[in-house]
Amino acid sequence: MSKLPKRYTITAALPYTNGPIHIGHLAGVYVPADIYVRYLRLKNRDVAFICGSDEHGVAIDIKAKKEKKTPKQIIDHYDQIIRKSFDDFGISFDNYSRTSRKVHHKTASDIFTKLHEKSKFTIKETKQLYDPEARAFLADRFVVGKCPICQNEEAYGDQCESCGSSLNATDLISPKSKLSGSKPILKKTKHWFLPLDQYEDFIKDWILKQHKKDWKSNVYGQVKSWVDNGLQSRAVTRDLDWGIPVPVEGGEGKVLYVWFDAPIGYISSTKEWAKKKNIDWKPYWKSQDTKLVHFIGKDNIVFHCIIFPIILKNAGSYILPENVPANEFLNLEGNKISTSNNWAVWLHEFLEEFTDKQDVLRYTLTANAPETKDNDFTWKEFQTRNNSELVAIFGNFINRVMVLTHKYYEGKVPKAGSLNKIDQEVVTSLKTFPLKLEKEIEEFHFRAYSQELMNLARLGNKYLADQEPWKLINEDPERVKTIINTALQIAVSLTVLSEPLLPFTAIKMKSMLNIDLSWDEVSTFKNPLIIEGKLLRKPELLFTKIDDDMIKIQLEKLKFYT
Ligand code: MF3
Ligand code: ZN
Repeated sequence: MSKLPKRYTITAALPYTNGPIHIGHLAGVYVPADIYVRYLRLKNRDVAFICGSDEHGVAIDIKAKKEKKTPKQIIDHYDQIIRKSFDDFGISFDNYSRTSRKVHHKTASDIFTKLHEKSKFTIKETKQLYDPEARAFLADRFVVGKCPICQNEEAYGDQCESCGSSLNATDLISPKSKLSGSKPILKKTKHWFLPLDQYEDFIKDWILKQHKKDWKSNVYGQVKSWVDNGLQSRAVTRDLDWGIPVPVEGGEGKVLYVWFDAPIGYISSTKEWAKKKNIDWKPYWKSQDTKLVHFIGKDNIVFHCIIFPIILKNAGSYILPENVPANEFLNLEGNKISTSNNWAVWLHEFLEEFTDKQDVLRYTLTANAPETKDNDFTWKEFQTRNNSELVAIFGNFINRVMVLTHKYYEGKVPKAGSLNKIDQEVVTSLKTFPLKLEKEIEEFHFRAYSQELMNLARLGNKYLADQEPWKLINEDPERVKTIINTALQIAVSLTVLSEPLLPFTAIKMKSMLNIDLSWDEVSTFKNPLIIEGKLLRKPELLFTKIDDDMIKIQLEKLKFYT
């Protein structure tokens, strides 16, 4: 898409409601997606930011069995917790739905039926793994065994998390049932398969040829390796009772595979949103001038780049994603984040201790985002990013300029005299930032965006430190007016340009500076960003130091629970 899109459909992976969400989710998917969307909104673009809870699948069924609850009880519980976490961290979805809702069951069933009627599936009787003790067919997470590709002993029936390969349960070497621990036998059953092998040319042309340059190399590389190894037919139905019933003849007692229905959840959620707004959902999914982007983690790549696009292509008149900027994984203190080992920082727990530090976490996770490789989160880095960057540079600059304006001018923006060479250089430099930042965001380089933002704060901080207006206030008051006015222009720019990353802080800054500008108003910079005589509100501290004790508590907590 070379022209400016008319509208954007931005999706973030639907989280499974079998547990709360942690910093890995935030860093990999939700913060980058939210930065992107908030930036688009600041540019007054038409955006639908879509998500919801992924409530089917074996993981939820297993959790329910373990806790002697119904799947419904499990999903209701975690849907609430997850929803609240997103809200608390400022993830600004336009709609957050649930795949257990009626609109989704209908949307997914209709698409399945359509593909069935157009003979896009092959229906096959095959032998599948069956647990004679639990009397259930085993697929996906109900069965573990050795990965035939990397020999990892703990591969699942649909995927090996160690090498990322997508598997069929019958590929596993020495499989074991997760239900009873017993060795499964093979038993005949009938399923609907999506013959991915028939779409190799489609994927090759669409991704490997057309998106060689603009897709991330980790995403492109994974797709290429699948295609190089040959795509295989995948079953899209399961012998389970939790899920969306197979809506066609012969499907009794079977449900749709969770990865068939979940991505369709983006469409259902968009429908729900459009209905509330009383607008038409279709342009967001069917119009060529819409830019569709999926934000996901790397374990979701095959589903978003191969399977879902094939479904969309066959469902008729849907657009394909323009980009799928998947991230790698975030580790925690040197180890893989793990729900079952409780090696994680849970968002709801973070907030209990750091009540007003959502932006600090958003910043740290972005500055060190796993964009090109797996990265490590450490509490020490969290502290350093806060104390040495957000407090010492960003917060310090804003606080100084606010306090000085109140002290010297009763909070009124002073009039600038003529700019000297240094002022001019600073303004010239200031004007280069919006375009630089814009380019980083548009290319999904959120780390670089966060670091350029800090450079802008550095520019302001250094300017004040070098000019030392507090030393000139008696002998050269006119000069001081120019310095403060110039520093305030930087402060306004920093406010608007940092809003996508630091939305809570931006609320305070906008209120203190008494402004509300769009990204383009800052970017064009024809007139001063803030005019003389404007009255500023009282300064408020943006960030506060985190001391060693607070970090120690977090580290001990991690050790205690494992
Ligand atoms: N629930 C899946 C996960 O957490 C992601 C689903 S993304 C969607 O890995 F496309 F299916 F919605
Ligand atoms: Zn493997």
